[in-house]
Amino acid sequence: MTDGEIIVLLGPPGAGKGTQAEKLAQKFGLLHLSTGGVLRDAVKKGTELGKQVQAIMESGELVPDTLVSKIVDEWIRLRRGNKGLILDGFPRNLVQAGFLKELEKDFPVSVINIQVDESEIVKRLAGRRSCPQCGKIYNVYTLPPEQEGVCDRCGACLVQREDDREEVVQERLRVYRTETEPLIDFYSDKSNYYDVDGNQDPRTVFRQICMQMLN
Ligand code: AP5
Repeated sequence: MTDGEIIVLLGPPGAGKGTQAEKLAQKFGLLHLSTGGVLRDAVKKGTELGKQVQAIMESGELVPDTLVSKIVDEWIRLRRGNKGLILDGFPRNLVQAGFLKELEKDFPVSVINIQVDESEIVKRLAGRRSCPQCGKIYNVYTLPPEQEGVCDRCGACLVQREDDREEVVQERLRVYRTETEPLIDFYSDKSNYYDVDGNQDPRTVFRQICMQMLN
């Protein structure tokens, strides 16, 4: 890992990008941008951006590239000089990857692709609960909070995401296959591209990502 590096976490919905991003940020002192998180926050607060994207997100489609690229651009430029940055959920298609390529002149980019089987994804998303206040991610089957429905970290009531309903999950998977999966070909001949088997338990996945990053 080099100073100022941008680490891109690629992978289908429910691959564990958010889970791993949080651990990486903590271990290496990196800053983490979840584009989905920023957009959900805008919806929750009812901002102009939130009103523009709410229906799109609830249907499982991608938000327009110009809106997301602007969020990423501003976020990265404000954090120039930090030890390293993690992008979780960006880029999501070839247009966004082209935008990131422009930034590669200023920031070295590594890509970690977390691969998970579809049957596992459907189970994970059905069980996911998250904290609307601090963002911590749980799973009722594999990673439950100490007290049911309550965040261990901040005590807020946990919620299920609107787009984790089964029919929306199917649409998100379709969008992933058509829009995002082609990025694997786009990045896979890069020297800083790594595949990680995300079907394993979160700690094993984390260890493997760390091994790649410290390589
Ligand atoms: P976004 O929030 O980015 O959703 P996503 O990519 O579909 O990813 P998820 O957040 O669902 O999953 P994850 O990989 O982070 O998994 P997690 O760690 O939570 O985007 C949402 C929407 O915003 C998009 O549909 C789109 O509309 C819009 N958007 C966002 N970015 C955009 C962009 N760039 N362009 C256009 N539109 C954009 O884990 C999932 C569950 O599994 C949790 O319960 C967790 O506890 C559990 N888990 C994690 N790892 C493991 C493991 N190894 N074993 C067992 N369980 C595990």
